[in-house]
Amino acid sequence: MSSAAVPSPAAALDSPAPPESGLAHGDDRSGGAVIGRRIAFINEKGGSAKTTLVASVAAWLALQRGRRVLAIDLDPQGQLGKVLGVDVRHARRSALDLLLDSVLEGPAPAETGAAAKPAGLLPIVATRIAGLDLIPANKSLGLVPSPDPTRDEPSDRLAARLRRARELSRYDYVLFDAPPSFGPLTLNVLRAAEEVVIPVPLTFLALDGCAELLRTLAMVRTRHGHTALRVSMVIPTFYRRTRLAHEVLEKLKQRFPKEIAHTVVGFHVKIDEAQSRGLSIFEYAPGDRGARALAALAEELEARGEAGAGEMP
Ligand SMILES: Nc1ncnc2c1ncn2[C@@H]1O[C@H](COP(=O)(O)OP(=O)(O)OP(=O)(O)O)[C@@H](O)[C@H]1O
Ligand SMILES: [Mg+2]
Repeated sequence: MSSAAVPSPAAALDSPAPPESGLAHGDDRSGGAVIGRRIAFINEKGGSAKTTLVASVAAWLALQRGRRVLAIDLDPQGQLGKVLGVDVRHARRSALDLLLDSVLEGPAPAETGAAAKPAGLLPIVATRIAGLDLIPANKSLGLVPSPDPTRDEPSDRLAARLRRARELSRYDYVLFDAPPSFGPLTLNVLRAAEEVVIPVPLTFLALDGCAELLRTLAMVRTRHGHTALRVSMVIPTFYRRTRLAHEVLEKLKQRFPKEIAHTVVGFHVKIDEAQSRGLSIFEYAPGDRGARALAALAEELEARGEAGAGEMP
């Protein structure tokens, strides 16, 4: 099934509503480099299409809009690099560098098989798509230690590292791909991002994860003082014409009347095929309905930046 229009109603999931956001998009309280939109794709439910959406939105912005996009993989599975056609298995420098002090300031060699950036300290590699760069991840990211409960510091490492990175100012968008479990990596992502996109597979259990995620976002906003963090879009994924899928979709529309995407993504085999070949759907099967749905979503997300993203629900 392809995309479908979604009207907006009212009511709520079980989770409490966190307080409102304060800072505007692009604001940088550190005095460091001002960077573009920082958007995290998060859902601790595995297989909810986070990686697919990061890769597709990034590719669309670069290919169709000529935007400069940096996609950062914070998942030890390293799948973002794989779907973008970058060999991440033997990368000596990776997203791990962003989180461990001991490897922060080295040179930027080209070990990943893709063209490495000679300048800059971030472990950035180019992808085949002009304008789309990647900070890859691999299993080494699993080495990131769990936060020390007596110190608050580790969960701020990614944000602090990116604030110091001058080369980030050349990007219009920074997109973060988060892992499926909730832990130190996801917490780092939430503190470094300004917007959250939540892909939600239209299954009953997905709603539980959604409520839990909202509680976590509220915690990051209050406990860590990250008041700029907001949900900019909720994307229903793996849509099917079933009663349950429609029920879940209705609840999502009620809980997120402004944030719900107007496009829902069905199951399109070409999307899976494209990823298995390390290609974006826009290169592999641009006329496919899946490509049209993903393009529509990318356009919606782009427009939400111009209009100002949704308030924190
Ligand atoms: N609309 C779609 N149609 C068909 N297949 C899809 C679609 N979206 C994603 N997939 C496939 O579903 C699988 C899971 O998607 P993806 O890896 O993007 O999810 P994820 O949330 O990143 O998973 P994880 O939590 O493990 O990181 C992948 O094989 C992907 O190619
Ligand atoms: Mg993933």
